[in-house]
Amino acid sequence: MATSVGRMQEKEPQFFAKLGHTTVHEGELARHSVYTRFLHWAYGIFFFLALFTGFATYMPFLFRWFAPAFGGPATTRMLHPWFGLGFVFFFGLQAINWWGPMKWTDTDSRWIKHLPEFLRSTQALEPEDVGMYNGGQKLQFWEIVVGSIVYLITGIVMWAGARTFGATSVAISYILHDISALIMLFGIFFHLYQATFGQPGTIQAMTRGTVSEAWAWTHAPAWFRQMTGRDPRQALEQERQRRIARERAIEQLARGGPAGPPGGGRA
Ligand code: HEM
Repeated sequence: MATSVGRMQEKEPQFFAKLGHTTVHEGELARHSVYTRFLHWAYGIFFFLALFTGFATYMPFLFRWFAPAFGGPATTRMLHPWFGLGFVFFFGLQAINWWGPMKWTDTDSRWIKHLPEFLRSTQALEPEDVGMYNGGQKLQFWEIVVGSIVYLITGIVMWAGARTFGATSVAISYILHDISALIMLFGIFFHLYQATFGQPGTIQAMTRGTVSEAWAWTHAPAWFRQMTGRDPRQALEQERQRRIARERAIEQLARGGPAGPPGGGRA
């Protein structure tokens, strides 16, 4: 069974609700609205466009081969600040959209303290009080908020130039702009890894707007509880029992005996 829109935490502007829909299949939960997904991919694209034009312009000794794709070195340089503004604009809208769920809580401070254990993956399940986003995701979000403000201010200073802001301000802006870019780039590599290979099933949250219930009780247990009213650890245990029962039934069938009660129905 599939429903067009499941219970969604994020608010969806009318226009986007009409523009697309989120189909939630059985065993899935609605995670991101069409609006959220649109914003994410808009600033994601602008981020990489700004990155490539920035590399080609300011590190030509390594990346001048990017420039022809943007119409040559002069247009690449001209386009870079506009791509940057596109990034800041769409991320700004996302920051407003996510302001509530990204608020820092005690749970996040505890999560950060146990970061080494999570990185070593000694715990497959997130702690039970982790909600829609964990401390690491929130930390990255706020890093991008601060980074975007740094980009905007330093970008405007460099764009207007030394005649408006003075040579020292422009020189400092270059350094801060580059440091911010390096920090964000490092974070984004980690983000890409986590969204794909690191936590399989995550990318679907930003493509189809849904995640499996198993993903939710593993990575966002408190959010799972909030969305379904079910206990995440119990849901995991029920699924484990269901699997064992199914495997036993298959084994019995293979041995030629009666399958017995499979216990295969969903809890
Ligand atoms: C092609 C590249 C990208 C992929 C595949 C990707 C994938 C994803 C996915 C699947 C989520 C949802 C995670 C969840 O619901 O828990 C997400 C969230 C997010 N993305 Fe991306 N993303 C990409 C690029 C970017 C870029 C360039 C930025 C910003 C510069 C960004 C910033 C964020 C933020 C702040 C979140 C929310 C918190 C988090 O999950 O980390 N993403 N992304």
